[in-house]
Amino acid sequence: MLKLNPFSTDTTLRDILGKESPFTTPLPAALKTGITLENVTKVYPMGRRTYQALGGVSLSIEPGEFVAIVGPSGSGKSTILNIMTGIDKPTSGKIGIGGKDIGKLSENELARWRGENVGIVFQFFQLLPTLTALENVMLPLHLRGSKAGYQGEERRQRALANLRMVELFDHAHHLPRELSGGEQQRVAIARALANDPPIIVADEPTGNLDSKTGELIFKIFRQLAEEGKTVIYVTHDTNLARQARRLIQVRDGAILSDESVASRYRSSENKSESLTGD
Ligand SMILES: Nc1ncnc2c1ncn2[C@@H]1O[C@H](COP(=O)(O)OP(=O)(O)O)[C@@H](O)[C@H]1O
Ligand SMILES: [Mg+2]
Repeated sequence: MLKLNPFSTDTTLRDILGKESPFTTPLPAALKTGITLENVTKVYPMGRRTYQALGGVSLSIEPGEFVAIVGPSGSGKSTILNIMTGIDKPTSGKIGIGGKDIGKLSENELARWRGENVGIVFQFFQLLPTLTALENVMLPLHLRGSKAGYQGEERRQRALANLRMVELFDHAHHLPRELSGGEQQRVAIARALANDPPIIVADEPTGNLDSKTGELIFKIFRQLAEEGKTVIYVTHDTNLARQARRLIQVRDGAILSDESVASRYRSSENKSESLTGD
């Protein structure tokens, strides 16, 4: 049993992992410039016609922000996330992250940049079924290689610390199929944190979980944002979305509204809030 509850809002990662925690080291200055999308469009070819998934999206996310993105299915949420992380390329427009125009990086540079700067969590966890929880969490550390990243035993210790943070230290040697959905998603979060990236992106991470488990997962993300990570969270769950510090509503490939928590409270004093997912 852990003495500290990592999900309690007054427990910090520093408390959980100790003062020397690699998670609590300050972010390099170069990464403190946030994420900027400038007039980003995405057009998919569809036979002889084209389909415009994004029509000129501009937004700016500061480091340490906790942003929820909501919108109906097909509105362009995943496309926005994938363009932000360089997984997908925009048809036009600019993406600046950490002071870099990532549109100018080569495929190799982009993959390396992503490996070091972005942790991604998916709806269906995407754990490798034949690897234990610990091995799954260690995978990004191996992929990064020993030159830039962490060495042998240090990798194992980091991975175990990450599993402890999501309260799965005791399940380190379990295979994904021996874990519940919520536990698998916590392993996936530990894996996303492996290289201590400043940016965490989650595409409907609670979409396949019951609402109580979803709350727990959401709390981990909120905690990470409080620790200074930039967290961008796509969800259909309006109750969860309301708990983020900033709420962006996407509709038909465009931003319908973009409100900070403070302004949302102000406006809800006058009118009832309307949030629509699907
Ligand atoms: N590779 C693709 N080819 C053609 N259309 C696509 C492709 N990927 C996404 N789309 C379309 O772009 C729109 C936005 O998709 P997406 O960003 O996945 O929406 P969301 O995540 O909000 O459900 C959808 O209409 C989808 O069908
Ligand atoms: Mg999607």
